[in-house]
Amino acid sequence: MKRYAVIGRDIAYSISPIIHNEHFKFLEIDAIYECFDMKKLEINPLKTYQGFNVTIPYKEQIINNCFELSKEAKEICAVNCVKVVNDQFYGYNTDVYGFYQLLVKNHLLKEEKKVLVIGAGGAGKAVYYCLLNYTKHDVYVTNKTIDKALKLTSKVISFDVVSQYITDFDIIINCTSVGVKERQSPIKIKQVKKNACFIDINYQSKSLFLDVAKKLNAKTINGFDMLIYQAAKSFEIWFQKKANIKAMYESIRKG
Ligand code: ATR
Repeated sequence: MKRYAVIGRDIAYSISPIIHNEHFKFLEIDAIYECFDMKKLEINPLKTYQGFNVTIPYKEQIINNCFELSKEAKEICAVNCVKVVNDQFYGYNTDVYGFYQLLVKNHLLKEEKKVLVIGAGGAGKAVYYCLLNYTKHDVYVTNKTIDKALKLTSKVISFDVVSQYITDFDIIINCTSVGVKERQSPIKIKQVKKNACFIDINYQSKSLFLDVAKKLNAKTINGFDMLIYQAAKSFEIWFQKKANIKAMYESIRKG
């Protein structure tokens, strides 16, 4: 039986095992996908898998252990999907594809928009890369540690004052880990631009960031589409076979 996993720290909440295991069942593939919680990154146990996804906080750290990186993973400096071949790790970034599909599904590609990315960690960098390379949007970044944002672009807004600029933006995306475990928002939202759209790439059901924006009449989108499409792309990398997106969406309804 082939073995796959998601690795990260304190990730018992992850629904990736449900998505992949139900999808394996649907396609009658003899494989299992586990949740592997690691206090610190350990490499040897990972060699027993045929592939794994990487989440908070190891998306950057895993790079040092990769034999080869895809073009995107190399440029972003973050890996969320690894294929294991002969004990060697091949690193990919499927968050980029996942986020692009979220934009497609929610009709956010057509007109040029002013976009604010909150967060310049592993996930934030993938989202920024996607926006920069595959859209015409005008993209700004804010991050608590400003140097990380400045590594991406000169269009940086200081995290301390960003709340004052929210009404300048058409699309605002939370790519921080704030809100994943606790009900907190990374920034204060007091006013929004007319027809603004708020995206939280985290898929946990109750996002304070989105709830506040919704109360101010903004459109809100959670990270569910991104989660499904990054999982589909990971499957395709591991199995060189098309994923069944419908079955992946269906897995959550069942799980
Ligand atoms: P991931 O791979 O999921 O992006 P990460 O690389 O650890 O995880 O990045 C976490 C992101 O959340 C970073 O943008 C981080 O900001 P810093 O780079 O300044 O650490 C952001 N973040 C974490 N805790 C935060 C907090 N309390 N307030 C604001 N941003 C926070």
